[in-house]
Amino acid sequence: MQLRLDTQILYQGTEPCSNIRNPEVPPIYPSTAYILDDMEDYDFANKGGRYYYNRTANPNRDGLGTAISYLEHGESTLICSSGMAAISTALLGLLHQGDHILMNKAVYGETIELANHILTKFGIQVTFADFTDLEEVKREILPNTKLLYTEIISNPLTLVVDLDEISKIATEKGILTVVDSTFTTPILFRPLEHGADIVIHSLTKYFGGHSDITGGSVTASEKLIRQIRPQYLLLGCCMDPGTAWLTLRSIKTMAMRVRKQNENASALAKALSADPHVSAVYHPSLKSHPQHTLASRIFDGGYGAMMSFQVEDSHEKVNSFMHRLKIVKYLGTLGGIRTTYTHPLTAFRNDFTEQELEKMGMSEGLIRISTGAEDIRDLVTDFTQALKAFD
Ligand SMILES: Cc1ncc(COP(=O)(O)O)c(C=O)c1O
Repeated sequence: MQLRLDTQILYQGTEPCSNIRNPEVPPIYPSTAYILDDMEDYDFANKGGRYYYNRTANPNRDGLGTAISYLEHGESTLICSSGMAAISTALLGLLHQGDHILMNKAVYGETIELANHILTKFGIQVTFADFTDLEEVKREILPNTKLLYTEIISNPLTLVVDLDEISKIATEKGILTVVDSTFTTPILFRPLEHGADIVIHSLTKYFGGHSDITGGSVTASEKLIRQIRPQYLLLGCCMDPGTAWLTLRSIKTMAMRVRKQNENASALAKALSADPHVSAVYHPSLKSHPQHTLASRIFDGGYGAMMSFQVEDSHEKVNSFMHRLKIVKYLGTLGGIRTTYTHPLTAFRNDFTEQELEKMGMSEGLIRISTGAEDIRDLVTDFTQALKAFD
């Protein structure tokens, strides 16, 4: 058949290349759909036997899912477009009208908003408890409680949850434990080994590691993932193939990055503790931290790269400190290779009352750090010279 230009240009150069074998890195598969060669293929594809439609399944997301399942010692992983997409997909997949969820009150602010504003809209009852107080957790469980939800290291005061004890309580009651392990990463801690049923990550943070990826993951047994997958497909929150490819690329250096970041964080926490302008440092590596012993027992070779510290409650001096910092920058994210900081009171101010903020320990002089992989001497020098703003 003799094809004309307008037709030819749609087909030229698009045949799969038959003489490429074993590239060092996998290709990106941006295709939104895959050609079916036979009428029988449709049924086979629909049952997951082959790639068919991007939102349903994609080789780049599958590769990334395999790597995360390996790291978390889980059976299966869903790869989502953001951490919030992962959290909402998992919770909407597991909960039904009339169920109750008990959530750690110290989790990520937008997770709390999701619970309060979206889950409740679907008739799901939500209450909050201090997950470092096991008696309070036991007291707050109701006959209709379906799951306990927590993070391991709280933001910004770095309180550590004893997951072995939390999941023991959940197992006794026959309910699920869901953990957002974004701050810990599987390099430091693997929740499924401590009795959790589901582990969630914002891949935007340490997995991506370079502040240029937005993604999330949900890892669990095949059985639980089968329960969540229909929501995942219908909510349409899959990650795009290019981002999945880049995230898998980034994972290769995650162990190296995170170990150095954790090491730097412990050294920086020690240096800040010795600074006369700093009245408190919150990092589990410090003996003064209320869960230092627990953190030493459950974490592998570090204490996390997140920390916060308290200086004088002066808005002007905090602003001057911000201007004095030379390499460390204010950024509304965390987990990147470069050290960044935020001002929690500014971030939380719109969502909580003055009294709530005070109870949460937020004050003008509280600064949160996400420690990067710089030479620790440069980090200490930068913070030390900037803290002179509080002279
Ligand atoms: C602990 C934690 N979980 C979830 C999220 C949400 O992730 P994303 O921004 O990728 O939706 C964040 C974001 O900061 C976070 O810190």
